[in-house]
Amino acid sequence: MEREGPAEESRAEESRAEGVPPEALETRRVVEQAVRRSGQHRWDLEDVNWDRVRAEELTEDDRTVVRFLTYIEDHIPWYLNFFLDAFPTTDVDLATYARNREYFRFLVMWANDEEKHAAALTRYQVTAEMADEATVLRQLAAEGGKPWDLPYEHPLELYTYAFLQEKATQLFYQRYQRVVREPLLRDLLGKLAADEARHFGLYSHLVANSLATVGPRALDGVKNVLSTFEMPLNGVLDGYWRMALRVVDRVGHDHTEAYDSLGRLVGRFSDQFGTPDVDDLWRLIRDVQRMP
Ligand SMILES: [Fe+2]
Ligand SMILES: [Fe+2]
Repeated sequence: MEREGPAEESRAEESRAEGVPPEALETRRVVEQAVRRSGQHRWDLEDVNWDRVRAEELTEDDRTVVRFLTYIEDHIPWYLNFFLDAFPTTDVDLATYARNREYFRFLVMWANDEEKHAAALTRYQVTAEMADEATVLRQLAAEGGKPWDLPYEHPLELYTYAFLQEKATQLFYQRYQRVVREPLLRDLLGKLAADEARHFGLYSHLVANSLATVGPRALDGVKNVLSTFEMPLNGVLDGYWRMALRVVDRVGHDHTEAYDSLGRLVGRFSDQFGTPDVDDLWRLIRDVQRMP
């Protein structure tokens, strides 16, 4: 095979560079930052002082809440599969590949965090003698294989969904940490909340980048997610509503508070999108927050 001369090589180099779209480069920058921050705050199960547990401080509601949280976090195999399918790296055009490849770097780190949350809560149930290990694992296995579905395909909608979900989870853990008396659980909730806050941070960059790239048209996707948003596993887990109501009673949590963060983020684009569009979004946020 004839070797390319320097001119051909540099042209090939140039066209390869032209082929990497700005969206992939922006994704790369924000993912790099998220991965770096995660590395700076790394923790694992052995950093937790499991001997601190004071199971007598747990109320019946606390036990229900912990079981509920464990189910939700332990669904990580499904969540990861879903996101890998939604952002494929095979049989796609170069621009899609380049973006999805960068996002993949975040996904594996995020999946590791969520896996750790599931493992920590599972171990907590056993340590606090809520149930023995075999029972907890059997309960988790009965729910873990149940499919759930997210009705979104477009990256902006998926980022927006994850933005709301991570924020709602972070707020929930922070609020619960303030009311729970059991010291080990309080400790764990602080670690979980900090991880969720970092996940949220990445999505706030990804949503902002999408808004900047797509422009006002992007608001259709944002509104679609706001009007259809559900927390993970809604309607999938056995006894979801019974457990969810206990959570609301115990923690006073309302996941729609996370919508305010989305309104504020879109508000940063008022100059670009025009005030009426942003006002319209806030009206939708208040409407869905008022819904029973
Ligand atoms: Fe989590
Ligand atoms: Fe998370």
